Amino acid sequence: MIQIGIAADHGGFELKAKVIEQLKAAGYQPKDYGAYQLDPADDYPDLVIPLARAISSGEVTKGIAICGSGVGASIAANKISGVRAALITEVYSAHQGVEHDDMNLLCLGGRVIGPALVQELVQAFLQASYRGEERFQRRLDKVIALEKEK
Ligand code: RB5
Repeated sequence: MIQIGIAADHGGFELKAKVIEQLKAAGYQPKDYGAYQLDPADDYPDLVIPLARAISSGEVTKGIAICGSGVGASIAANKISGVRAALITEVYSAHQGVEHDDMNLLCLGGRVIGPALVQELVQAFLQASYRGEERFQRRLDKVIALEKEK
């Protein structure tokens, strides 16, 4: 079973607990990068970046990052090399983002979507695999090349 990481700021704190329960019920042993307590003054980069670095290093294979909207989490995480994060609100993109684009970080808005939809998004994201077809790899290589620009 693949190693999953999860992180949330105060905007996603409550939803994170629900997602962890879901992951455990499905047999995963998620690695929790915090927040470990609700702190209304915490800042999403402080929670999301350790998870993003863990994806980048291979410590975890896929991640789930939750902030209030999911926007800040995705913006911050995409600064880390090797991370392909997207804010997802519907099931098609939750799996297609993995299958075509090798998305490895699912970003969710804790103040935006409800737990039932989140369950489906998480399931679709985790069950999907990158298809690696020539056209997908060609596009991904162009994205990866951008990480070498400085
Ligand atoms: C925190 O209040 C909120 O700004 C943050 O969780 C997130 O929505 C940022 O994108």
